[in-house]
Amino acid sequence: MDTEILTLDDFDYQGKTVILRLDINSPIDRQTGQLADDNRIRKSLPTIRELAACGGRVVMLAHQGDTEDYHNLIDLSPHAARIAELLGHSVSFVDDIAGPAATGRMSNLRNGELLMLNNVRYLVEEVSTFINYVKLTPEEMAKTRLVRNLAPHADLYVCEAFSAAHRSTPSLVGFAEVLPAAGGRLFVEELSALTQVRERPEHPCVYVLGGARIADAFSMMKSVLGNGSADKVLTSGLTGEVMLLACGQQLGVPSEKLIHDKGLDPYIDKAQDLLNVYADKILYPSDFAIIDEDQRKEIGRDKLPVDTLLVDIGAKTIADYIEVINSARTIFVNGPAGIYEQPMSAEGTRRLWNAIADAPGYSVIGGGDSVAAARRFGVQERMGYVCTSGGGMVRFLSGQKLSVVEALERASVRYRARRTE
Ligand code: 3PG
Repeated sequence: MDTEILTLDDFDYQGKTVILRLDINSPIDRQTGQLADDNRIRKSLPTIRELAACGGRVVMLAHQGDTEDYHNLIDLSPHAARIAELLGHSVSFVDDIAGPAATGRMSNLRNGELLMLNNVRYLVEEVSTFINYVKLTPEEMAKTRLVRNLAPHADLYVCEAFSAAHRSTPSLVGFAEVLPAAGGRLFVEELSALTQVRERPEHPCVYVLGGARIADAFSMMKSVLGNGSADKVLTSGLTGEVMLLACGQQLGVPSEKLIHDKGLDPYIDKAQDLLNVYADKILYPSDFAIIDEDQRKEIGRDKLPVDTLLVDIGAKTIADYIEVINSARTIFVNGPAGIYEQPMSAEGTRRLWNAIADAPGYSVIGGGDSVAAARRFGVQERMGYVCTSGGGMVRFLSGQKLSVVEALERASVRYRARRTE
């Protein structure tokens, strides 16, 4: 691995109290209030199991939901119960985060015991830094109530939350300032997979970018085309449609209105700028699907504009993209090609995802919708690597430094320096 962070292999856990920061932020069923998906929990299990098996006293911290995602801002007791069920190992839950109930329980843990504290986003210092209302330096994070109260009861900090590694908050960054700190198994795995795509992709390297998160797609395109790591970008979804608008192609009122209503008009100029420089590297759709009288119909670009919403890419675009995918040695995927949740507009995503899963190149897929689509089409297991992260992954591939990776790197430098003293 290129990064200098320490891993689980660098420490001994017998009798040590380990603060383990997970990212088990999960969709919650609005009706039942129960976890609707436990993918992130399952992916975190190897590290939890390993720390407990090595005699660690494990104190788990995590966030769930936020003030904007309010119906998801719930206690972590269902998460603790699910971990216990999946591991076949008891997990205590304390309805406290940084107060005396939490610290009292922490200092009484036995070797191999697992403790889950409550949602760190109930703490104002965690939320104000997460939403960037307050910006704290790492040294200031180390002085927050959470870190001040818990760190004296712990020996080590392990971060398993790669999918939140772009957030600079006390629970993610603060402990690494005052405790020896390592990345967990999943953290290191995701960082390595994405580092390979970003720093050493085997060429040809193809980015398949769709979905509605145009800001993400554009920041990645700019970076990976600029540094030469991408040889081709296959656009679809709203990103593909904006590319066509930048070429002067009218789409029709419903699709143009959707782009306008989402505030995406400024991306038309940005698309033009990219096409001026990388015209041979950016592919955009040559045909689309619409739903007409309850039927899927396909239309070529020459039939645009249409007064119906474009909901998917068409057969010719799918075939052209599959040809590029089959000749790639690295494929990165983020964002579905159409409204994949509905059968009549799922064809583009289903066929591209299957082609990527079967392609000889190494594929990496990430982002909530993309992974959910891979699961829906039964190809998740056949993808090269499936990331749990969305925002963190996009920022990493856009060339940004992630706050938590930087914090773990600093902790590693301090730890190694102390050992050679
Ligand atoms: C996620 O769900 O992408 C991570 O848990 C980060 O969550 P956040 O965007 O609410 O910080």
